[in-house]
Amino acid sequence: MQLFIEETYEDMSRRAADLIAAQLIVDPASTLGLATGSTPIGLYADLVEDFQADRISFEQVTTFNLDEYRGLSPEHDQSYRYFMQKNLFDHVDIDPEATSVPDGANPDAQAACESYEQAISEAGGIDLQLLGLGHNGHIGFNEPCDEFPVRTHVVELTESTINANSRLFESIDQVPREAYTMGIGTIMKARAILVVASGVDKAQIVRDAFFGPVTPQVPASVLQLHPNVTVVVDAEAGSLL
Ligand code: GLP
Repeated sequence: MQLFIEETYEDMSRRAADLIAAQLIVDPASTLGLATGSTPIGLYADLVEDFQADRISFEQVTTFNLDEYRGLSPEHDQSYRYFMQKNLFDHVDIDPEATSVPDGANPDAQAACESYEQAISEAGGIDLQLLGLGHNGHIGFNEPCDEFPVRTHVVELTESTINANSRLFESIDQVPREAYTMGIGTIMKARAILVVASGVDKAQIVRDAFFGPVTPQVPASVLQLHPNVTVVVDAEAGSLL
Protein backbone atom coordinates (compact mmCIF):
# COMPACT_ATOMS: atom_id res chain seq x y z
CA MET A 1 0.00 0.00 0.00
CA GLN A 2 1.18 3.47 -0.82
CA LEU A 3 -0.02 6.19 1.55
CA PHE A 4 -0.09 9.93 0.94
CA ILE A 5 -1.03 12.22 3.81
CA GLU A 6 -1.69 15.65 2.30
CA GLU A 7 -2.18 18.84 4.25
CA THR A 8 -5.63 19.96 3.09
CA TYR A 9 -8.69 18.65 1.25
CA GLU A 10 -7.50 20.59 -1.81
CA ASP A 11 -4.07 18.93 -1.67
CA MET A 12 -5.69 15.51 -1.24
CA SER A 13 -7.90 16.17 -4.26
CA ARG A 14 -4.98 17.37 -6.40
CA ARG A 15 -2.85 14.33 -5.51
CA ALA A 16 -5.68 11.93 -6.34
CA ALA A 17 -6.49 13.76 -9.58
CA ASP A 18 -2.80 13.61 -10.55
CA LEU A 19 -2.80 9.83 -10.06
CA ILE A 20 -5.90 9.46 -12.25
CA ALA A 21 -4.49 11.88 -14.85
CA ALA A 22 -1.27 9.84 -14.93
CA GLN A 23 -3.33 6.71 -15.62
CA LEU A 24 -5.07 8.44 -18.56
CA ILE A 25 -1.80 9.76 -19.96
CA VAL A 26 -0.16 6.31 -19.84
CA ASP A 27 -3.29 4.59 -21.22
CA PRO A 28 -5.80 6.99 -22.83
CA ALA A 29 -8.20 4.07 -23.33
CA SER A 30 -8.33 3.20 -19.62
CA THR A 31 -11.34 1.77 -17.88
CA LEU A 32 -11.96 3.72 -14.68
CA GLY A 33 -14.09 2.66 -11.74
CA LEU A 34 -15.65 5.80 -10.24
CA ALA A 35 -17.12 6.75 -6.88
CA THR A 36 -19.60 9.30 -5.56
CA GLY A 37 -19.92 11.00 -2.18
CA SER A 38 -18.57 14.36 -1.02
CA THR A 39 -14.94 13.29 -0.91
CA PRO A 40 -14.26 12.94 -4.66
CA ILE A 41 -16.00 16.21 -5.66
CA GLY A 42 -12.73 18.16 -5.47
CA LEU A 43 -10.75 15.65 -7.48
CA TYR A 44 -13.41 15.57 -10.22
CA ALA A 45 -13.20 19.38 -10.40
CA ASP A 46 -9.42 19.06 -10.76
CA LEU A 47 -9.83 16.51 -13.56
CA VAL A 48 -12.23 18.87 -15.36
CA GLU A 49 -9.58 21.57 -15.04
CA ASP A 50 -6.93 19.21 -16.43
CA PHE A 51 -9.24 18.45 -19.36
CA GLN A 52 -9.88 22.14 -20.01
CA ALA A 53 -6.13 22.80 -19.93
CA ASP A 54 -5.66 20.03 -22.53
CA ARG A 55 -3.61 17.89 -20.19
CA ILE A 56 -5.95 14.90 -20.41
CA SER A 57 -8.76 13.59 -22.57
CA PHE A 58 -11.60 11.20 -21.75
CA GLU A 59 -12.39 10.51 -25.39
CA GLN A 60 -11.38 6.85 -25.24
CA VAL A 61 -12.11 6.29 -21.54
CA THR A 62 -14.73 3.84 -20.29
CA THR A 63 -16.19 4.21 -16.78
CA PHE A 64 -18.15 2.07 -14.36
CA ASN A 65 -19.53 3.57 -11.18
CA LEU A 66 -19.49 1.61 -7.97
CA ASP A 67 -23.09 1.89 -6.96
CA GLU A 68 -26.53 3.42 -7.33
CA TYR A 69 -29.60 3.77 -5.15
CA ARG A 70 -32.28 1.24 -6.05
CA GLY A 71 -35.48 3.03 -7.05
CA LEU A 72 -33.97 6.33 -8.22
CA SER A 73 -34.14 7.25 -11.88
CA PRO A 74 -31.04 8.71 -13.58
CA GLU A 75 -32.75 12.13 -13.59
CA HIS A 76 -33.30 12.20 -9.81
CA ASP A 77 -30.99 14.84 -8.38
CA GLN A 78 -29.79 12.47 -5.66
CA SER A 79 -29.05 9.60 -8.04
CA TYR A 80 -25.41 8.76 -8.53
CA ARG A 81 -25.88 9.00 -12.32
CA TYR A 82 -26.97 12.63 -11.84
CA PHE A 83 -23.98 13.26 -9.54
CA MET A 84 -21.56 11.93 -12.16
CA GLN A 85 -23.10 14.01 -14.96
CA LYS A 86 -22.94 17.15 -12.84
CA ASN A 87 -19.46 16.66 -11.40
CA LEU A 88 -17.61 15.10 -14.33
CA PHE A 89 -19.28 13.70 -17.43
CA ASP A 90 -21.05 16.90 -18.57
CA HIS A 91 -17.75 18.81 -18.52
CA VAL A 92 -15.39 16.47 -20.37
CA ASP A 93 -15.18 14.79 -23.79
CA ILE A 94 -16.29 11.35 -22.61
CA ASP A 95 -18.58 9.29 -24.87
CA PRO A 96 -21.87 9.08 -22.94
CA GLU A 97 -22.25 5.49 -24.15
CA ALA A 98 -18.98 4.59 -22.43
CA THR A 99 -20.21 5.61 -18.97
CA SER A 100 -22.06 3.09 -16.81
CA VAL A 101 -23.79 3.37 -13.46
CA PRO A 102 -25.88 0.47 -12.09
CA ASP A 103 -29.47 0.87 -13.28
CA GLY A 104 -31.29 2.00 -10.14
CA ALA A 105 -34.52 2.31 -12.12
CA ASN A 106 -34.54 -1.42 -12.89
CA PRO A 107 -36.58 -3.11 -10.15
CA ASP A 108 -35.26 -6.53 -11.21
CA ALA A 109 -32.24 -6.70 -8.92
CA GLN A 110 -30.83 -9.89 -10.35
CA ALA A 111 -30.99 -8.67 -13.93
CA ALA A 112 -29.58 -5.23 -13.06
CA CYS A 113 -26.65 -6.66 -11.09
CA GLU A 114 -25.83 -9.55 -13.41
CA SER A 115 -25.77 -7.37 -16.53
CA TYR A 116 -23.57 -4.83 -14.75
CA GLU A 117 -21.05 -7.44 -13.67
CA GLN A 118 -21.00 -8.83 -17.21
CA ALA A 119 -20.49 -5.41 -18.79
CA ILE A 120 -17.42 -4.86 -16.58
CA SER A 121 -15.97 -8.23 -17.65
CA GLU A 122 -16.70 -7.53 -21.30
CA ALA A 123 -14.87 -4.20 -21.03
CA GLY A 124 -11.82 -6.16 -19.88
CA GLY A 125 -12.08 -5.25 -16.20
CA ILE A 126 -11.21 -2.04 -14.41
CA ASP A 127 -7.74 -0.49 -14.66
CA LEU A 128 -8.09 2.00 -11.82
CA GLN A 129 -10.86 1.96 -9.23
CA LEU A 130 -11.50 5.09 -7.18
CA LEU A 131 -13.05 4.55 -3.73
CA GLY A 132 -14.36 6.73 -0.93
CA LEU A 133 -14.71 5.37 2.56
CA GLY A 134 -17.95 5.17 4.57
CA HIS A 135 -17.77 5.89 8.32
CA ASN A 136 -18.34 2.21 9.04
CA GLY A 137 -15.72 1.13 6.48
CA HIS A 138 -18.12 0.53 3.64
CA ILE A 139 -16.79 0.75 0.10
CA GLY A 140 -19.32 1.25 -2.65
CA PHE A 141 -22.35 0.19 -0.65
CA ASN A 142 -20.73 -2.95 0.76
CA GLU A 143 -21.79 -2.60 4.36
CA PRO A 144 -20.22 -4.45 7.31
CA CYS A 145 -21.38 -8.08 7.25
CA ASP A 146 -20.27 -11.64 8.00
CA GLU A 147 -18.62 -12.42 4.71
CA PHE A 148 -17.31 -10.37 1.80
CA PRO A 149 -19.92 -10.21 -0.99
CA VAL A 150 -18.27 -11.18 -4.25
CA ARG A 151 -20.30 -9.81 -7.15
CA THR A 152 -22.54 -6.84 -7.92
CA HIS A 153 -25.61 -7.25 -5.73
CA VAL A 154 -28.51 -5.50 -4.04
CA VAL A 155 -27.95 -4.30 -0.45
CA GLU A 156 -30.05 -2.97 2.34
CA LEU A 157 -28.40 0.19 3.61
CA THR A 158 -27.54 0.42 7.30
CA GLU A 159 -29.06 3.08 9.53
CA SER A 160 -25.62 4.72 9.80
CA THR A 161 -25.36 5.07 6.02
CA ILE A 162 -28.96 6.26 5.67
CA ASN A 163 -28.30 8.88 8.37
CA ALA A 164 -25.02 9.99 6.81
CA ASN A 165 -26.56 10.31 3.35
CA SER A 166 -29.79 11.96 4.56
CA ARG A 167 -27.96 15.30 4.59
CA LEU A 168 -28.32 15.33 0.82
CA PHE A 169 -32.07 14.60 0.76
CA GLU A 170 -34.95 16.84 1.85
CA SER A 171 -35.81 14.43 4.65
CA ILE A 172 -34.51 11.09 5.94
CA ASP A 173 -37.69 9.38 4.68
CA GLN A 174 -36.63 10.15 1.14
CA VAL A 175 -33.33 8.26 1.39
CA PRO A 176 -33.70 4.96 -0.49
CA ARG A 177 -33.33 1.88 1.71
CA GLU A 178 -31.57 -0.24 -0.91
CA ALA A 179 -28.83 0.09 -3.47
CA TYR A 180 -27.06 -1.84 -6.19
CA THR A 181 -23.33 -2.06 -5.64
CA MET A 182 -20.26 -3.70 -7.09
CA GLY A 183 -19.20 -6.53 -4.80
CA ILE A 184 -15.94 -6.73 -2.91
CA GLY A 185 -14.78 -9.27 -5.50
CA THR A 186 -15.64 -6.85 -8.33
CA ILE A 187 -13.60 -4.14 -6.59
CA MET A 188 -10.67 -6.42 -5.75
CA LYS A 189 -10.38 -7.46 -9.41
CA ALA A 190 -9.46 -3.89 -10.40
CA ARG A 191 -5.80 -3.71 -11.39
CA ALA A 192 -5.18 -0.65 -9.22
CA ILE A 193 -7.18 0.98 -6.45
CA LEU A 194 -7.14 4.59 -5.26
CA VAL A 195 -8.82 5.41 -1.94
CA VAL A 196 -9.56 8.97 -0.83
CA ALA A 197 -10.67 10.13 2.62
CA SER A 198 -10.88 13.54 4.22
CA GLY A 199 -11.95 15.07 7.51
CA VAL A 200 -11.44 14.22 11.14
CA ASP A 201 -14.60 12.10 11.17
CA LYS A 202 -12.81 9.61 8.90
CA ALA A 203 -9.64 9.36 11.03
CA GLN A 204 -10.71 6.30 13.03
CA ILE A 205 -12.00 4.34 10.05
CA VAL A 206 -8.85 5.13 8.04
CA ARG A 207 -6.84 3.64 10.87
CA ASP A 208 -9.12 0.61 11.31
CA ALA A 209 -9.35 -0.10 7.58
CA PHE A 210 -5.68 0.07 6.73
CA PHE A 211 -3.96 -0.80 10.00
CA GLY A 212 -6.53 -3.03 11.74
CA PRO A 213 -7.47 -6.66 11.16
CA VAL A 214 -8.86 -7.71 7.78
CA THR A 215 -12.52 -8.48 8.41
CA PRO A 216 -15.83 -8.20 6.52
CA GLN A 217 -17.02 -6.15 9.52
CA VAL A 218 -14.76 -3.40 8.11
CA PRO A 219 -15.23 -3.99 4.37
CA ALA A 220 -12.40 -1.63 3.30
CA SER A 221 -9.91 -3.66 5.33
CA VAL A 222 -9.86 -6.23 2.50
CA LEU A 223 -7.92 -3.66 0.47
CA GLN A 224 -4.87 -4.50 2.59
CA LEU A 225 -4.72 -7.71 0.54
CA HIS A 226 -4.77 -5.95 -2.85
CA PRO A 227 -1.35 -5.70 -4.52
CA ASN A 228 -1.75 -2.16 -5.88
CA VAL A 229 -3.53 0.21 -3.51
CA THR A 230 -2.87 3.91 -3.04
CA VAL A 231 -4.50 5.73 -0.14
CA VAL A 232 -4.68 9.53 -0.23
CA VAL A 233 -5.93 11.30 2.89
CA ASP A 234 -5.84 14.84 4.19
CA ALA A 235 -4.13 15.63 7.49
CA GLU A 236 -7.37 15.32 9.48
CA ALA A 237 -8.28 11.89 8.11
CA GLY A 238 -4.66 10.83 8.66
CA SER A 239 -4.48 12.23 12.17
CA LEU A 240 -4.60 8.82 13.91
CA LEU A 241 -1.84 7.30 11.76
C1 GLP B 1 -21.74 6.70 0.08
C2 GLP B 1 -21.24 5.99 -1.18
C3 GLP B 1 -19.81 5.54 -1.01
C4 GLP B 1 -18.99 6.68 -0.45
C5 GLP B 1 -19.45 6.99 0.94
C6 GLP B 1 -18.64 8.08 1.62
O1 GLP B 1 -22.42 5.85 0.95
N1 GLP B 1 -22.02 4.88 -1.57
O2 GLP B 1 -19.32 5.08 -2.26
O3 GLP B 1 -17.64 6.33 -0.44
O4 GLP B 1 -20.80 7.40 0.86
O5 GLP B 1 -19.10 9.32 1.22
P1 GLP B 1 -18.44 10.69 1.57
O6 GLP B 1 -17.29 10.84 0.63
O7 GLP B 1 -19.52 11.69 1.29
O8 GLP B 1 -18.03 10.64 2.99
